[in-house]
Amino acid sequence: MSNPKTILEAFTWRYATQKFDTSKKLSDEQLNTLLEVIRLSPSSFGLQPWKFIVVRNPELRVKLRGAGYDQSKITDASHLIIFAVKKNLDDKTVDTYIQSVAQVRGVAFETLKGYGDMIKQFLSSMSQEAKMEWAARQAYIALGVLITAGAVEGIDVGPMEGFDPKKFDEILGLEQMGLETKVIVAVGFRSDDDFPASLTKVRFPKEEVIIEMN
Ligand SMILES: Cc1cc2nc3c(=O)[nH]c(=O)nc-3n(C[C@H](O)[C@H](O)[C@H](O)COP(=O)(O)O)c2cc1C
Repeated sequence: MSNPKTILEAFTWRYATQKFDTSKKLSDEQLNTLLEVIRLSPSSFGLQPWKFIVVRNPELRVKLRGAGYDQSKITDASHLIIFAVKKNLDDKTVDTYIQSVAQVRGVAFETLKGYGDMIKQFLSSMSQEAKMEWAARQAYIALGVLITAGAVEGIDVGPMEGFDPKKFDEILGLEQMGLETKVIVAVGFRSDDDFPASLTKVRFPKEEVIIEMN
């Protein structure tokens, strides 16, 4: 089908795709669009505590499927994207970020010191566990952005929490890269006989979900 026109049409068209057409692959341009959009996702402080790992390798994906409750979309979608977060969020992370702000915007590093110190203070007040939860929340913003971008571009997306993150980290060697997996996403094109495509969307009515305080 051609791309939906409005954001509401896009969100009516999309659904969490279960069965992907193995013969349909994203073009380089489509993949690049999705990756650019997630790279441009906002994050708290702008810190971008994430890495997005694009897995094409079929053998690797068979292994990952074994750690993902045998969900067929892990192997069958055009691409699998792993949303991982950086485990080591410390003063150095902040300095690297502040340096990049200074460079991109052409301002002196020292003028941003106060901002950097505030972020350092925020991070150092948290336990490692809390930091990883905070980082996961940022990754989920990018997830929402990817779901939206897919819908608008007419690309199917299958988000997944149903997998063993530790096993994923092991298979992908993320531990050594200082990363941990938070959520994974299959992207590609729906199979003609993907059953949920025909189901009516289940959402609570507006009156139940939206509270207006006037
Ligand atoms: C964060 C997240 C994780 C999900 N994990 C899975 C999963 O592991 N397996 C699966 O089949 N669907 C998964 N889903 C799909 C949801 O079940 C689906 O989005 C929800 O039922 C609403 O349906 P819709 O997206 O088709 O409108 C996940 C969705 C989200 C947003």
